[in-house]
Amino acid sequence: MTSWTPDLTDRNGPRYRAIADALADDIASGRLPAGMRLPTHRDLAYKLGVTVGTVTRAYTEAERRGLIGGEVGRGTFVQGPGHRTGAVPVPQSDPFTWSPPGEPSLVNLTAITLDHHLAAQALGPTLTAIAASGAAGMLEYAPHAGIPAHRAAGAQWLARQHRAVASADSVLLTIGAQNAMAVALATVARPGDVVLTERLTNYGMKTLAAVEGYHLEGITLDEFGVVPEAFDSACRRLAPKALYLVPTMHNPTASVMPKARRIEVVEIARRHGVMLVEDDVFGFLTPDVQPIQAIAPDITIYLSSISKSVSSGLRVGYVVAPPALVPRAEAVIRALHYSSPPLPAEVATRWIQDGTADRFAEAQRVEAVLRQQQARSILPANLVCGHPQAQHMWLLLPEPWRREDFITEARRRGVAVTGGDVFAVGRTSTPQAVRLGLCQPQSVDVLARGLHTLADLLANPETGMLSIV
Ligand SMILES: Cc1ncc(COP(=O)(O)O)c(C=O)c1O
Repeated sequence: MTSWTPDLTDRNGPRYRAIADALADDIASGRLPAGMRLPTHRDLAYKLGVTVGTVTRAYTEAERRGLIGGEVGRGTFVQGPGHRTGAVPVPQSDPFTWSPPGEPSLVNLTAITLDHHLAAQALGPTLTAIAASGAAGMLEYAPHAGIPAHRAAGAQWLARQHRAVASADSVLLTIGAQNAMAVALATVARPGDVVLTERLTNYGMKTLAAVEGYHLEGITLDEFGVVPEAFDSACRRLAPKALYLVPTMHNPTASVMPKARRIEVVEIARRHGVMLVEDDVFGFLTPDVQPIQAIAPDITIYLSSISKSVSSGLRVGYVVAPPALVPRAEAVIRALHYSSPPLPAEVATRWIQDGTADRFAEAQRVEAVLRQQQARSILPANLVCGHPQAQHMWLLLPEPWRREDFITEARRRGVAVTGGDVFAVGRTSTPQAVRLGLCQPQSVDVLARGLHTLADLLANPETGMLSIV
């Protein structure tokens, strides 16, 4: 048995956490090799002058992080790298790809994307203008947080279209919102840390956590978003580093958290010292809704992108961090990708400055409402959930449909939808529901065709299900 005694000097906070953190550090530094047996709870408690319960809690925490494991009768051992939480399998096939080339007739509703033809028209003249002006700074390394003019334009955009509280100094350029999520989390959490999310969450967060080794814990949702009592209880039990949430047009359910609930969430986060990571990619769709970040900018890392309003391929995203965290976020960007490419950010900046981007955002708002209206006229009202201005919709499946059967049969009839289980955090049971990305089909006619197919399946489960058996 090892004589390991953790050094707890300079480790603040609860003792159990300090012990678990020391374990993590000693494993990372190689002081505790994989397979090494750890002291018994009683021995370690004696050495550290803490209670046996504290050591038990520390070992439980370390086990939850995937650092150690126990075998009845043999003791507790340091796990090999394959046991780290980070080794959670990364899904090999993305459920949201663009339409397979071999299936041009497929009505693909699996992604939340937008019509790019407006941006395509504007691109040529903008690139020509950038080239004509000498493309200064466009082909060089940019500062980690982005070129100052791009940060300033980002701040204007987020304030104007998303109602976020942002200044050039607090905005950092990222490579879309997915990268902004990685930057935000790495700014406040480390591998093995608990990050809370909505119980159904953006699939991109699940893949990120799997790769980076964050331990996701899902919080119960109701029609308004995370349930405050569940958030409070998770803070008490799990000492999370952050709550990642999409309070506006939640992905996948398209719900919008009311202001009173936002205030409650902020109060709980404050009470427990938990950072909020607010993903507001859809915020521009509801101009009347203020992000959580505007209520509590000091405890919120806010992120967004132009992927849902202007162009997803430009990969321009933004993080807004409280001033104290900006240097840390810059260091994370430097470590991850040095800086985001300045050329797409320059295109976005020019479009933000001359009002082009606002026109695009308005066009996407109009298109989303139109498609929602169309979907609501075709699908049964009692099964449709989500905000009527969202680019996506959450569709409940009535008895006797099971999610997998519905997805299989829809696909057989030429419509691709995403099952609710794709978004589930952990192994809790997931609703019999699917997500529909309404703005992906190129025209409302194609969308209508797909929706009529789904409506037909919902109305006639016997025919659909018989063909599966
Ligand atoms: C909630 C949410 N966050 C982030 C992203 C990723 O956005 P981006 O394309 O800017 O990386 C998506 C994409 O659908 C999303 O739905």
